[in-house]
Amino acid sequence: MQDNKIIIFDTTLRDGEQSPGASMNTAEKIQIAQQLENLRVDVIEAGFAAASPGDFDAISQIAQTIEKSSICSLARAVDSDIKAAGNAIEKAKLKRIHTFIATSPIHMKYKLKMSPDEVIKRAVAAVQYAKTFVDDVEFSLEDACRSDISFMKEITQAVIEVGAKTINLPDTVGYLLPTEIYDMVKEMVKFIDNKAIVSLHNHNDLGLAVANTLAGISAGARQVECTINGLGERAGNAAMEEIVMALKTRKDMFNGIDTNINTKEIYTASKMVATITGIEPQPNKAIVGKNAFAHESGIHQDGVLKHQETYEIMKPEDIGIYQDTSIVLGKHSGRAAFKDKLIHLGFTNIVDDELNASFERFKILCDKKKDITDDDIRMIMTDEKLNNNKTYEVLSVQISDCSNGVPSAVVTIKHNDKTITDASIGDGAMDAIFKTIDRITNYHGTLIDYKVKSVSEGKDALAKVTCKVTFNDQNPPMIGHGLSLDTMIASARAYIGALNSYLSMKDMLQRDSQHQV
Ligand code: KIV
Ligand code: ZN
Repeated sequence: MQDNKIIIFDTTLRDGEQSPGASMNTAEKIQIAQQLENLRVDVIEAGFAAASPGDFDAISQIAQTIEKSSICSLARAVDSDIKAAGNAIEKAKLKRIHTFIATSPIHMKYKLKMSPDEVIKRAVAAVQYAKTFVDDVEFSLEDACRSDISFMKEITQAVIEVGAKTINLPDTVGYLLPTEIYDMVKEMVKFIDNKAIVSLHNHNDLGLAVANTLAGISAGARQVECTINGLGERAGNAAMEEIVMALKTRKDMFNGIDTNINTKEIYTASKMVATITGIEPQPNKAIVGKNAFAHESGIHQDGVLKHQETYEIMKPEDIGIYQDTSIVLGKHSGRAAFKDKLIHLGFTNIVDDELNASFERFKILCDKKKDITDDDIRMIMTDEKLNNNKTYEVLSVQISDCSNGVPSAVVTIKHNDKTITDASIGDGAMDAIFKTIDRITNYHGTLIDYKVKSVSEGKDALAKVTCKVTFNDQNPPMIGHGLSLDTMIASARAYIGALNSYLSMKDMLQRDSQHQV
């Protein structure tokens, strides 16, 4: 790795998933991992293998799918975690284990209840064990930014001696200011003296994660850990799109430092993560917020029309937002134009079945909706990718007149080539739909969260529903997505999507327990 290349280590699927409400299923994680590969992320932290069988399964499937990015699993500095991480990434072409232990006095005393010497011994043993699975081992000093610098040097030297190749210095609680990070990184870079790469992992509790990351880069850090849309525990992690675009836009201040990121894939990645997690970036969020390139004031609009650079320091096209409306799709458009549009919108891994199904849905939409927007097309394709598990499939939903009598629903579902219709009453239309689905499938779902959002403007906008459901009172809750012009149908699809995820997780657990026998 050259001195002026910054390694982008994306942790959307691990630290990002730790955001409240952001849990994702395996199919969703694979879709995001593919987009991270399109972005040319160097390392994808795909999860924490020991956390749950679902995490393990997602990491090992990502390891078998992704070829160009290195696949990493997090592991505490304990053998069982490291073993799970090593096994989960076994089939990856490029792989890394990321092991960590806390080094701050407060964490060692109250959380770990270990002496500094014990912490060093444990860290060394963890790196040595991780090296029996992979050559590329990263070691993190959790809560580094509240640790004593001489202890940091001691433990760093010990783990480098047994083969750690990256030393990560997390600001776990988002506490430091940019000048402090600069000084700390400078000192550690000098101490490490090219024997390992210095990495940063900044949390955003004081809104400084990106500023701190850039300060650390100026001081010599050559790996940064970040997430799409700044997703992450509490106030989140440093946002990848902000770091990358700051380095690109202000290269005059960074001595030719660069990343491998294909910035034109940023917008697609941001939209995908927002759709899957249901967590939209705030409208004024830098780079990817809805208003990031919108000029509302007359003075600004006038200036931009006369010369784009009067008020714009970046071009929307640089992050993959295309104003170009040369490919407007409508009911007469053919499959080739539709595919072209999808590629233009950033969908580069399109399999034939997805293309056929989404094209069919697009044609049906053209008959019902006047203007088809890029967002409509993006959502149809995303929905097809997310709902590729069709164990149960909603064919139709009918609701009785709810205004006076008892609301009731008739739902038709396809399952194993059989078509099943049933009906139920409920406390409202939605309740009646979900109860009917429970009757047909024999699974009892408890709705934990329900969100509905319109995809574009206008009364004929597509409705996108996200449901979080626990089935048969078993944790964890499953997330499902549904898309339709009709909110009731979108809701039924979202509920069934969550059920399909639950069933595939159950299948996977059964397979695993049979293997263990
Ligand atoms: O914030 C943190 O310290 C972490 C470590 C596990 C790297 O996420
Ligand atoms: Zn973190």
